Amino acid sequence: MKIALVGATGLVGGVMRKVLEERGFGQYDFIPAASARSIGREIDFAGRKYKMVSVEDAIAAAPDIAIFSAGSGPSLQYAPQFAAKGTVVIDNSSAWRSNPEIPLVVPEINGDVIKSTDKIIANPNCSTIQMVMALCPLHKRYGIKRLVISTYQSVTGTGMKAVNQLMKERAGESCEKAYPYQIDMNLFPHGGTFEDNGYTTEEIKLVNETRKILRDNDIQVTATVARVPVTGGHSEAVNVEFKEEFDLQEVFELLRNMPGLVVQDDPANNIYPMPMWAKDKDEVFVGRIRRDFSQPKTLNLWVVGDNLRKGAATNAVQIAELVRDKFLK
Ligand code: A2P
Repeated sequence: MKIALVGATGLVGGVMRKVLEERGFGQYDFIPAASARSIGREIDFAGRKYKMVSVEDAIAAAPDIAIFSAGSGPSLQYAPQFAAKGTVVIDNSSAWRSNPEIPLVVPEINGDVIKSTDKIIANPNCSTIQMVMALCPLHKRYGIKRLVISTYQSVTGTGMKAVNQLMKERAGESCEKAYPYQIDMNLFPHGGTFEDNGYTTEEIKLVNETRKILRDNDIQVTATVARVPVTGGHSEAVNVEFKEEFDLQEVFELLRNMPGLVVQDDPANNIYPMPMWAKDKDEVFVGRIRRDFSQPKTLNLWVVGDNLRKGAATNAVQIAELVRDKFLK
């Protein structure tokens, strides 16, 4: 089996390599690709050195699976070319997510939607993945009517340049800016770009992707995304209004039984999810689970996950495992 990684030099690409290694993909032929400026550069994978190749060379090698984390432009350009070679593309960008023909997959939730004929599969947005991990069992049981989401998103979601900006600002050094403002000792209610309706692209992703993954276009969603000077993961305050009345003890049980989700909720001992603890973990963490007393049938949750792991690399590699085990063996 041959596996290509497009965007292998990037921040998510580095975590993809780590997760592929951890989950036994080191035994396969590995083809790392990135932009023209990286061709020939050496990178490490599974204890060996590999030379970066061009995306064109990676396509010519006709890998079984190509995982993409190079942004939307390269994905729109190259994913169909891989697909034409029979490669299954798992794409971490937003390029294909809203296409009704393309599955948008969190394996624990809707892995069943992938068909043997699917050649492009979209990996959802990081903040959506961690949120639906907590919402899925509750939606099945009580039916979600409306979500009010506030996010506190890590700079790692913007790539290496953003992490560099935070670190340099903290060290008092000048640097190239990934954001319009200083991020150290600051935050801004701005993720992605602004659309005509006043929302940002990151906020709209939470609306559309949640509906698609939970297979319910009636769920009402409103979101405010904030970028915070944090590196370990994204945090989200989620206010959930259900159609049916819920029992709080049952909510805890449903969340505890969800694979990949960990309940971290012991307020008396100051235990609640934090990016500091979620960093480098594959699981998503949920806490501050409590009834919203201001409105019937409504619950508050605090959800934290490492956006580079379950929010990106781990979920993509889980999709690769699913495709391999179901269709390529
Ligand atoms: P390169 O290192 O050659 O620029 P990040 O999200 O951390 O900024 O990483 C983006 C990743 O996407 C990098 O691996 C980058 O490669 C890759 N990339 C950017 N543009 C292209 C492109 N046009 N074709 C292929 N890979 C690209």
